[in-house]
Amino acid sequence: MSTAKLVLNGKEYEYPVFEGSENEVAIDFTKLRAQTGAIAYDPGYGNTGSCTSTITYIDGDAGILRYRGYPIEQLATQSTFTEVCYLLINGRLPNADELDKFNQRLNKHTLVHEDMKKLFEGYPPSAHPMAIMSAMVISLSAYHPDLLDPEIIDSNIMRLLAKFKTLAAFTYKKSVGQPYVYPRADLNYAEDFLHMMFATPTQPYQVNPVVAKALDLLLILHADHEQNCSTSTVRMVGSSQANVFASVAAGVNALWGPLHGGANQEVIMMLEDIQRDGGDVQKYVGMAKDKNSNFRLMGFGHRVYKNFDPRAKILKKAADDVLHALNVSDPLLDIARGLEEAALHDEYFVERKLYPNVDFYSGIIYRALGIPTQMFTVMFALGRLPGWIAQWKEMHNDSATRINRPRQIYTGEAVRDYTSIDQR
Ligand code: ACO
Repeated sequence: MSTAKLVLNGKEYEYPVFEGSENEVAIDFTKLRAQTGAIAYDPGYGNTGSCTSTITYIDGDAGILRYRGYPIEQLATQSTFTEVCYLLINGRLPNADELDKFNQRLNKHTLVHEDMKKLFEGYPPSAHPMAIMSAMVISLSAYHPDLLDPEIIDSNIMRLLAKFKTLAAFTYKKSVGQPYVYPRADLNYAEDFLHMMFATPTQPYQVNPVVAKALDLLLILHADHEQNCSTSTVRMVGSSQANVFASVAAGVNALWGPLHGGANQEVIMMLEDIQRDGGDVQKYVGMAKDKNSNFRLMGFGHRVYKNFDPRAKILKKAADDVLHALNVSDPLLDIARGLEEAALHDEYFVERKLYPNVDFYSGIIYRALGIPTQMFTVMFALGRLPGWIAQWKEMHNDSATRINRPRQIYTGEAVRDYTSIDQR
């Protein structure tokens, strides 16, 4: 095994170096503080590996994303979302019988406790659905206590996967004041979600295969993305042995921010602003470059991808295909294309390696499927759910897991004496 040397205050220390299965190199600093008294300072954790993982591999320079070794491009065209859920959570592709049983188990758990409907009643119709989703996910732990017993954990994982889509559709129904629609066991995951979103007591939902397939694709593309902000949050919370509902509810909150999953809603709002403002994309590219303005091109840039985001590539094509198949024309798609074109030829964006990310084109497709803008981040959460669960399970079963507890460098006042109030 090779080692890395560190010289601190004239003294030399040696640290083990190890490699992942794709030859990514890590210096093991586990003993750094104990040996040197110093800590590693890495705000934003851009250089810090918080765990080893067998779930997802990303090469940001080459634009590679694989779940359990399978390229995202193959899963996107040949798999289904529930098969990807099985793959992420269990580590291998299911055979036909296993997938059938997995889908049956999901169908068995789709109903939520009737009392949970009372929780929805307390929210104003204008409430953001992510606020309600976070509360509903943690509330599941009140109905299905998790005793850290492996069998109960397994059932609760299936409950969470199955009930999340019911809860997501209920948040929408609440926002438009329509009665909640109950799940149907004869539909697949995406179809059932669309049915609960769009059926009404007067009009059943007619499954449109183009819409259901597009939704399934979006869910697959969002299913995992290794140690991003929300997933690290799930692991962080779970490291205290908090149950899977509590940990995933925290992930929902982390995802909501506009720099993370909230960006898909922000992209559409930005494109609408540009449209209202006459469609001048260059003006907005200019604003994004202006350091005196807080404006950023939403849906652009990524901490890891510095060449292209393979999910965005798939979604750009899917946006064209879906809108064409549904015979929808959306002026925002033209603005998005124009904005991408302008940014990709601009020195500022080229230099900083800023490319469209997964959120740039996803919103255009959601719009075409009839999903309202406020629900976009919930859609992201629905897709990311199996990833959060797989990462929580891996962390929970890993004997190397310690409670997550970063250090800090204190830069406040040195010790001083308390003075009585009349002396200040
Ligand atoms: N528009 C304009 N400038 C940008 C953008 C953007 N979207 N993104 C990054 N930059 C600039 C920064 O101002 C910085 O410039 P500087 O070097 O002159 O100071 C440089 O590019 C590097 O940016 P950082 O913020 O340091 O990059 P970081 O890796 O911390 O952030 C992030 C990544 C949060 C995704 C960022 O690119 C961003 O805010 N994008 C817009 C929001 C977005 O689309 N988020 C979704 C990400 S994908 C996901 O979470 C699913």
